[in-house]
Amino acid sequence: MEIPAHPRGGKATNKYVTSEDGSIKIPAMVVDADAFEGVYAALKNYKFKSEDFLLTSYPKSGTNFTWEIMTMLLRGTSEYIKEFKALCMMDLFPVNKLDDDKLFPSPRVLNTHYRFEALPETYQNQKTVLILRNPKDVCLSYFHMESQMWDMIGKQVGNMEKMTLSKYIKIFLYADDVPFGNFFEFVEYMWKIKDQPHIHLVYYEDLILNPVEEIQRLNEFMGTNRSPELVQEIADATSFAKMKQGKSTQGHDTKALLDVLRTDEDTMKGTLALMFRKGKIGDWKNNFTVADNELFDAYLEQWTGGKDIPFRYE
Ligand code: A3P
Repeated sequence: MEIPAHPRGGKATNKYVTSEDGSIKIPAMVVDADAFEGVYAALKNYKFKSEDFLLTSYPKSGTNFTWEIMTMLLRGTSEYIKEFKALCMMDLFPVNKLDDDKLFPSPRVLNTHYRFEALPETYQNQKTVLILRNPKDVCLSYFHMESQMWDMIGKQVGNMEKMTLSKYIKIFLYADDVPFGNFFEFVEYMWKIKDQPHIHLVYYEDLILNPVEEIQRLNEFMGTNRSPELVQEIADATSFAKMKQGKSTQGHDTKALLDVLRTDEDTMKGTLALMFRKGKIGDWKNNFTVADNELFDAYLEQWTGGKDIPFRYE
């Protein structure tokens, strides 16, 4: 089978996130080639504050959803967070600027999509929430985002012209040279370290099906000690339809982000809209062909590293 190339993989960008001993090399997610160096230097050198949390996930696993909940818990509110979440994405924005330019106060939730084995050791010791979502929905969600987003920003690196879902599925399953590395490698590595006491695992599907229970578990893990009433209010505010509406109509101060990404306000709004698509479990069923699904299932069948993970597909 021929595996299509990802147009923004390491071969296209020549940018990687590499472990200190050089043994792990993950293709970087590059929006702007020049800005990347500053982002990566900040990611490598960041000294975590003890009150901050780290949120880690493969892209499209519900990061915005979980970040909003965790930040609400930290602040003791169910109001939508007015600062842009993208500021806290250490893979996109130089994290040192949050303090240097007073853009986002601690305590805060910082997030990365790189698996920890490529990052400095300090990432292994941080209080961390890990989100997992079933691979079929992640793949579909990522296809939708990537096929629209790169046409809006970072065009000079390569866009998704003529990409189809069937092609994308082959890349998702079989390619290593993709920004943030391969999904299955991310999950396998993070699954091995998930039982450490400073790591809290959340399944995206559980957060949709049992929001109050899952937010309460986060409340306990984070030590935020919020009341059952507030937990309920946060669950209501972050239900998909309400959150989509609330976040898209809320004003954001985007200047710092626009400067780094070298883009404009409308484009930024367009990319934010891509973060809220359907918010469902099992939308892959409405989009995969029989052949796509067979290919996916054949991959999952032989994926020994994931055999114990109770992914929920519907
Ligand atoms: P879909 O594309 O399947 O709709 P991330 O934040 O990691 O990029 O993940 C994006 C996915 O989470 C998208 O999935 C998005 O719609 C979904 N999502 C965002 N907010 C959500 C919410 N409040 N409830 C459920 N799903 C949400």
